[in-house]
Amino acid sequence: MQKEKQDFIIAILIGTLFVLLFGLISFLVIANYIKRKRKLVLEKEIYEANFQQAVMRAQLEMQEHTFRVISQDIHDNVGQILSLVKLNLNIISAEQKENETFNNLKELVMNAMSELRDLGTGYHTDRLIDKGLLLAIQHQLHLLEKTGMFTISFKSELTTMNLDRNKTIFLYRMIQESLNNIVKHACASHIRVSIFKNDNETHIVLEDDGHGFSRDTSEFKAGIGLSSIQQRASMIDARVYINSAPGYGTVVNFVFK
Ligand SMILES: Nc1ncnc2c1ncn2[C@@H]1O[C@H](COP(=O)(O)OP(=O)(O)OP(=O)(O)O)[C@@H](O)[C@H]1O
Ligand SMILES: [Mg+2]
Repeated sequence: MQKEKQDFIIAILIGTLFVLLFGLISFLVIANYIKRKRKLVLEKEIYEANFQQAVMRAQLEMQEHTFRVISQDIHDNVGQILSLVKLNLNIISAEQKENETFNNLKELVMNAMSELRDLGTGYHTDRLIDKGLLLAIQHQLHLLEKTGMFTISFKSELTTMNLDRNKTIFLYRMIQESLNNIVKHACASHIRVSIFKNDNETHIVLEDDGHGFSRDTSEFKAGIGLSSIQQRASMIDARVYINSAPGYGTVVNFVFK
C-alpha cells in the first residue's frame, strides 16, 4: 500500500515536471517568436524611414536644381529682352528728352532690370552659398528692407560659419521659407534676426512683430512650408522651435552644430 502511494506521488511529480517543462519550452518558443517578430517590424520601420529620407532628399535636390534652372532662365532670357529694350530706349532718348512719359518708361525699365538682378541672385543659390550663410541671410534681409514694408535688425555674434555645403543650402532654404511666411502672413513691421552660440550649438533666431498664429485654431491651414522646414531640419540634425500665438508675433529658432 505504502509502495503504491509512493509510486503514485512520483508519477504525479514526474507528470507535473513534464507539464512545467512543456510550459517552459512553449514559453521560450513563443517569447523567441515574439522577439524575432518585433525585430523584423523594427527593421522594416528603419528601412522605411531610411527609404523615406532618401526619397525626400532626392525631391529636395530636384527642387534645388529646378530653382537654379528657372533663375538662370529668367536671368538670361528676360534680362536679355530688357537689355534690348533699354538699348532701344537709349537710341530714341535723344529726341524724347523732355517727354515725361518716356522718361517714366525708361525709369521703369531700369527698375525692372535691377529687380531682376536681385531675383537672380536671390534664387541663385550657388553664388550666395559661396559667400556663406551669414551673407546670404543679410542679402535676403536687405531685399526685404528695400521693399519699405519692414524695418530690420540684424545682430550676429559670429563672423563666419564653417558649415558644409548641404547644411548651408538646407538652412538657407529653411530661413528663406520663414522669411516668406513673414511676408505672406504676418503683417509685421519689424523683423529681428539674432545669431549666437550656446552650449556649442549655433542659434539663428527670426522674430517678427506680426499677428502670430496658433495651429489649434480653425483659421490655421497647414501648407508645405512649415512641414518642409521640419523635414529639412531632421535631415541635417538641426532642431527648429516655432513659438507663436495670435497677437504675439512669431519666433523661429534654428539650432544646429
Ligand atoms: N510668421 C508668421 N506669422 C503669421 N502666421 C504664420 C507665420 N508663419 C506661418 N504662419 C501661419 O502658418 C500657416 C502655415 O504655414 P506654411 O508655411 O506651412 O504654409 P503657407 O505659407 O500657407 O503655404 P506654403 O508655405 O506651402 O506656400 C500659414 O498659412 C500661416 O497661417
Ligand atoms: Mg509658407
